[in-house]
Amino acid sequence: MDSLLITGGTPLNGTVKVSGAKNAALPILLGAILFDKKVIFENVPHLRDIHTTKNLLETLGFETNFENGCMEVCQKNTISSEAPYDLVKTMRASVLCLGPLLARLGEANVAMPGGCAIGTRPVDLHLSALEKMGAKFSLDNGYIKGRCQKLHGAHIQFDFPTVGGTENIMMAASLADGETILENAAREPEIVDLANFLNSCGAKISGAGESQIKIQGVTRLEQKNPYKIMPDRIEAGTYLIAAAMTNGEVRVKDCPYHDMEALFDKLRACNVILEIEGDSVIAKKHQELNAVDIRTLPHPGFPTDMQAQFMAMLSICKGSGIVEETIFENRFMHVPELKRMGADIRVTGNSAMVRGIPSLTGAPVMASDLRAGAALVLAGLCAEGETRVDRIYHVDRGYEGMELKLQSLGAKIKRIKGE
Ligand code: UD1
Repeated sequence: MDSLLITGGTPLNGTVKVSGAKNAALPILLGAILFDKKVIFENVPHLRDIHTTKNLLETLGFETNFENGCMEVCQKNTISSEAPYDLVKTMRASVLCLGPLLARLGEANVAMPGGCAIGTRPVDLHLSALEKMGAKFSLDNGYIKGRCQKLHGAHIQFDFPTVGGTENIMMAASLADGETILENAAREPEIVDLANFLNSCGAKISGAGESQIKIQGVTRLEQKNPYKIMPDRIEAGTYLIAAAMTNGEVRVKDCPYHDMEALFDKLRACNVILEIEGDSVIAKKHQELNAVDIRTLPHPGFPTDMQAQFMAMLSICKGSGIVEETIFENRFMHVPELKRMGADIRVTGNSAMVRGIPSLTGAPVMASDLRAGAALVLAGLCAEGETRVDRIYHVDRGYEGMELKLQSLGAKIKRIKGE
């Protein structure tokens, strides 16, 4: 398993370009299941999760070609309805093939995603919504078996604005009979990107980005032009924080700042200067960083996917900040590792009190999940001495060429190849 070796203390300077958004690309690529002809996507990031999705599409009977950020997906022969455990266990987002498979085949056998490091993450809301649309489910040997005649429109009210659930239903409803109305839908920008893609191919989705989404089913989808995936707001936010933590100045190009208000408000409250120039945001600081409190919430609130990185920054801010995690249970796996680097953090339930210290010290640490791994890299970049972040495959799931991008900003970071 590869590790990253970081010698901290170098201010990051220069320009970094944001890659395509992982969390937009995954549902959009799986949306290809809804098509009987070729679909082409641009700005697809080279990430472990994207390669897993490519494998999944191939296992289901699609031909794929992925070069220079462009992915082509085309149905080969008959489509298989089975998403096997070996793929689903490495990427929970595989469950996003459930809605498209049911809509396309009337049948889906998807391995039940287990728990993961950041919580149990059930899919009950996906299933009950699809049941309302006419699907019947059973659990068989660890597989969710779904069957339906033809899905029909329904009035669905989510108890919680689930991102994946909203995406699964939007895709399924696009080929269902009649109209589906989704209440308390998730409002994340990646949902808008999925709707934009589907609508560009003939789907009739209105309200994406709002709490109520209406989807009028159509009989067939067909792509006219390649679809370009939106840039990754979480990757962008991570590099903005890296600039502030290392006392540098970084221009983040292709930064989707319209979708990053909650993060920007908190960064500015910490004394980070953010200047918007065209499609770029420049991050720097002139004064000491100040601690603030954050609370993760569904979009447009503060994103849970930025919580760990923000906590790494709070650990070197002046004063104390409280981090409240309301989306996932058990998403503080980075805390013991940050503490190994000297951070002063106390966790009570779903809250963490972070008391800022002047400087972290390098240490061997272990990434437990994707964003926790990114937080440890940020900590290593500003720590005194050397930090080795193990299990970096988590980071490779979601950050395209992270060490190369950081090297280009002057960071002393290198990959150590594992067995
Ligand atoms: C997506 C993102 C992930 C992000 C998360 C929240 C992708 C591929 N992943 O994950 O990076 O952290 O949104 O912004 O886009 N829940 C249920 N029942 C369900 C579905 C969800 O109880 O049927 C719970 C989950 O356990 C969790 C919360 O709802 O506590 C949020 O989950 P959800 O919004 O569905 O996140 P994901 O789509 O899994």
